[in-house]
Amino acid sequence: MSSSRNNSSPIGVFDSGIGGLTVAKAISEALPNEQLFYFGDTAHLPYGDKSATAIQAYSIKICNVLLEQNCKAIVIACNSASSAAYDLVKEYVGSKAIVLSVIDPVVEYVANRYSNDKIGLIGTKQTVASRAYDSKLAKANPNLELSSLATPLLAPMIEEGFFNNSISHQIIEEYLSNASLENIKALILACTHYPLIKKEINAYYNNSIEVIDAPKVLSDILSERLNDEGLLNTQERQKHTFFVSDFTESFKESTALFFGKEVNLKHYPLWD
Ligand code: DGL
Repeated sequence: MSSSRNNSSPIGVFDSGIGGLTVAKAISEALPNEQLFYFGDTAHLPYGDKSATAIQAYSIKICNVLLEQNCKAIVIACNSASSAAYDLVKEYVGSKAIVLSVIDPVVEYVANRYSNDKIGLIGTKQTVASRAYDSKLAKANPNLELSSLATPLLAPMIEEGFFNNSISHQIIEEYLSNASLENIKALILACTHYPLIKKEINAYYNNSIEVIDAPKVLSDILSERLNDEGLLNTQERQKHTFFVSDFTESFKESTALFFGKEVNLKHYPLWD
């Protein structure tokens, strides 16, 4: 454990863009005393279409930035990065900070809650092709059947602000009516952008199945880990800081939408 890391150190959260803000928001609500350092790698967005090697390289660069900020925990708030780079990041960070992915908390939740059921999953091409959920879920509960569908149009659609409108309804319906998702008991939203269209997904299913996303499940586990390690902040919290590798108006608008006036947004280029 790094000697400079202590209770008042910030929590680092990273994603390829705005999607991880859903996780950051849930953490800020569950742990209101904690300061967040958020990194949105908007210069390399979308991660979902990148190779695992490229995502691993970006993830390590971002971890260096977050470690420089003395983060006591690093949350990989991106399914594509969690599936491609979690093991590497964990090894790289070592005992300097707690590392959490968005995948393991959800796998644990589903494995404990369901049995002998068919579970659906939607995510980026990278997340689905990695089969990270499949192998972790098969280990945690071999009685579950997982059926995954890559839904690559959804993240860019959301990133462009297209949700709760006729275009998003149509695209969502087209994907969810895929035969592979028939007769599912629950649907895992394996992409950090998708909580923003959870209402539309629930409406498609008439609220008849459970739609599971990471933010709440993950923030509960993070609270537990910080508590176990005596790292919960007991002092007055500093302002959250948001870094982006490419400054975009849409990111600025989204951060303001999630965090209100408090947003302290900085450009931090990540050179290739
Ligand atoms: N945040 C990414 C994820 O959760 C989706 C967006 C992207 O492809 O970069 O997989």
